[in-house]
Amino acid sequence: MRKATAIGTIFATSLIGTGMASVVFAQQASDTIAPERATGTTVAKRVEAKNFMVAAANPLAAEAGRDVIAKGGNAIDAMVAVQTVLGLVEPQSSGLGGGAFLVYYDAASKKLTTFDGREKAPMQATPKLFLDDKGQPLKFMDAVVGGRSVGTPGTVRLLEDVHKRYGKAEWASLFSPAEKLATDGFQVSPRLAGLIASDGDRLKKYEGPRGYFFDASGAPLKAGHVLKNPAYAETLSAIAKGGADAFYKGPIAEAIVKTVREATDNPGVLSLADFENYGINERDPVCVTYRALDVCGMGPPSSGGVAIGQMLGMMENFDIKSFGPDNVQSWRILGDAQRLAFADRERYLADTDFVPLPIKGLIDKNYLGERAKLLDGDPANPRALAKDAVKAGEPAWDHALLFGRDAALEMPSTSHFVIVDKEGNVLSMTTTIEGGFGSRLMTNGFLLNNELTDFSFKTHDNGLPVANRVEPGKRPRSSMAPTIVMKDGKPLIAIGSPGGSQIIGYVAQALVAYIDWGMPVEQIVAQPHLINRFGTYDIEAGTTAEKFAEPLKALGYEVNAGEMNSGLHAIEITGNGLVGSADPRREGVAVGE
Ligand code: DON
Repeated sequence: MRKATAIGTIFATSLIGTGMASVVFAQQASDTIAPERATGTTVAKRVEAKNFMVAAANPLAAEAGRDVIAKGGNAIDAMVAVQTVLGLVEPQSSGLGGGAFLVYYDAASKKLTTFDGREKAPMQATPKLFLDDKGQPLKFMDAVVGGRSVGTPGTVRLLEDVHKRYGKAEWASLFSPAEKLATDGFQVSPRLAGLIASDGDRLKKYEGPRGYFFDASGAPLKAGHVLKNPAYAETLSAIAKGGADAFYKGPIAEAIVKTVREATDNPGVLSLADFENYGINERDPVCVTYRALDVCGMGPPSSGGVAIGQMLGMMENFDIKSFGPDNVQSWRILGDAQRLAFADRERYLADTDFVPLPIKGLIDKNYLGERAKLLDGDPANPRALAKDAVKAGEPAWDHALLFGRDAALEMPSTSHFVIVDKEGNVLSMTTTIEGGFGSRLMTNGFLLNNELTDFSFKTHDNGLPVANRVEPGKRPRSSMAPTIVMKDGKPLIAIGSPGGSQIIGYVAQALVAYIDWGMPVEQIVAQPHLINRFGTYDIEAGTTAEKFAEPLKALGYEVNAGEMNSGLHAIEITGNGLVGSADPRREGVAVGE
């Protein structure tokens, strides 16, 4: 592990589990912790605990983490149990075949740091990886399915390196919950069943997922089906005994490379050397002050921390608190701040180990103060920012404007969890195999990521190189935004979400609701979403967000109502204990003691 210093409008309509389905699943999994569901998506369960808490996207995973801490483990120990169970019961979202970002507050040293376990492009990949024979970008799904999109996984190395540094419990013991569930079987959740059915032919293309997610007649597995995964149990047992090397060297790495290189129609170029050379990075968090709090998140290769920091830095110039959540002016300012942040993101955010980028300049207060002037609006007649006014800025930096605009898409899946232990350690981790079911390749009981499609397919834009183009050994730009907010040097709230590039809006909106509007945790994870990345205002269908449709149109926005598939999990650290909650749009829970 080395220390580094880093100072498409897509609605997932086919990928959504319903709130009702979540109730059924939660009751099946654990009668005692079923989340309350209101009609619509505005209420989540408030969970309070004195000593420790885990909030994750599946009850079995959250309970595994809770049990580890109850038996004397710490947050980092619990992270290993939570991730290995998620990889089994929520395989479409994250797992051993993917990557993750971790923001971690270590109570003993009082230090906040981040770990980058992002996948890397193979050494044999070139900037033309996603171009066809004529030099044109491939269609997105043609690039996703198969071996071409698979990057060297980072999650297993992250778990081990961070556990070696901070863990208390014996490494092998942390694999027992997932191993037992994989051997004895677990109930397929309604959300997983719905996703299998809606992915149809893609998930049937390759033998691994075809044999695992469908029954002998070829029908998708139904909710409640008890699914066993002996291959996953075997993989876990190997890593429990042999550590991460059992994954990165020998039969497991060989099986992944073979699966990727022999994928019919769309083989990839991953090699054993990529596994040998893979390492995670510890990076400084990106922190911005907002209303006297320090909002800290993940820097490059994620765009999450910088984009959220930019949004807050611009919004700090406005009295959002007085406007409140019912005033369309709050949404005008938030939406246009987001559009400006996305314009900078398209030009300036990528893996800073490969391209020099102006990260400090992008979150500089003076720069953001100037950008915020664009949001002023005419007090008598405020309007949405004109399309041609939304351009990347020129932060203090000698390379300004040397990079072209990006063209990368991100599709729904991914998972976020937060853990606070008895010692006051706090972690916020977003973990992914990128799109639902990743590359649709499976080996040794887990799916392989399609993270490389987070790179820009285009290498150049108007003759300028794109910062986020594919390069050998580079990490694709992410939107993942695991966040910890600090107050007077101590953690106040840990939060994050899946959702592709909508993650940035989900987390920023939750932070504004918490910090400016004083909403409790169970409301910030559940409040209806309003997101504006590229000009169109996306509002969450079937919720009270729809009341803003006409007022936003009157300000000049195009408005699009659709389902919004966040999975926000948050824990607040108060003077009296912990308060946590899980997004009612997915199947998660907060549990603690
Ligand atoms: O790293 C990223 O930003 C994406 N690969 C995350 C994908 C995601 O969150 C899909 N979510 N629902």
